Amino acid sequence: MLKNTKESCISVINTRTCCRSFSDKTVADCDIESILKTGQAAPSAKNRQPYFFIVIKNQQCKKEIALAATRGREKQFTNWDQQSAESMIKGKSKMNSNDLVIAEAPVAILLLRDSDPNYSEGISENLEIQEEQGVACVAYSMMIAAQALGLGMAWMCSVLNIPEELEDILTKYGIAWKKTWQPRVILPVGYSKKEKLRKPKRKELKEVSSWIN
Ligand SMILES: Cc1cc2nc3c(=O)[nH]c(=O)nc-3n(C[C@H](O)[C@H](O)[C@H](O)COP(=O)(O)O)c2cc1C
Repeated sequence: MLKNTKESCISVINTRTCCRSFSDKTVADCDIESILKTGQAAPSAKNRQPYFFIVIKNQQCKKEIALAATRGREKQFTNWDQQSAESMIKGKSKMNSNDLVIAEAPVAILLLRDSDPNYSEGISENLEIQEEQGVACVAYSMMIAAQALGLGMAWMCSVLNIPEELEDILTKYGIAWKKTWQPRVILPVGYSKKEKLRKPKRKELKEVSSWIN
């Protein structure tokens, strides 16, 4: 039993882990809305909120994205030898990219970066970084929200490889694709098939931190 809000918040963060196998139990729309709102609660530079969310529940649409993502991985592994790349794409490698999970989860949230092309500020490279940081904060907030709601969520970066394919697929399903959209991550969400998930170990804190007292 959690004693207080502080403890429960930290516990949710520390126990969250990526879920990559989902049951077919339906997720309530109010839970998805709660996840989206928690995403919006994340910080962004000058509160520009440079993002857009597409919630995909349609099974066929998710399947098409999962297949396009799997094929798109080839672009990511062009420097690999053919055998390693193929086993990764087919999910046989230890480093399996897990893209088919997009189809397995009952819902997938596609997070797009949506920046104002007319906005400029100081060093443009820094603006780019700030916009990306804002989008990443949203994705992580959503993961925490899912965990707090008892749902599992994965982070799939494969959509980075397939912007044109996504535009084609989503347009077919009635989305008015904007030229300012850039896919950043797709977050499959649902109830975990496994009762217990193993969270990968982190480095020792002393390896990744220094203190100046
Ligand atoms: C930028 C980024 C890209 C990621 N891409 C993928 C991915 O494509 N496929 C996948 O299965 N997990 C992906 N992950 C999840 C990481 O593998 C996972 O967060 C990491 O192994 C730590 O595990 P944990 O989140 O369960 O604590 C990604 C995470 C981040 C932040």
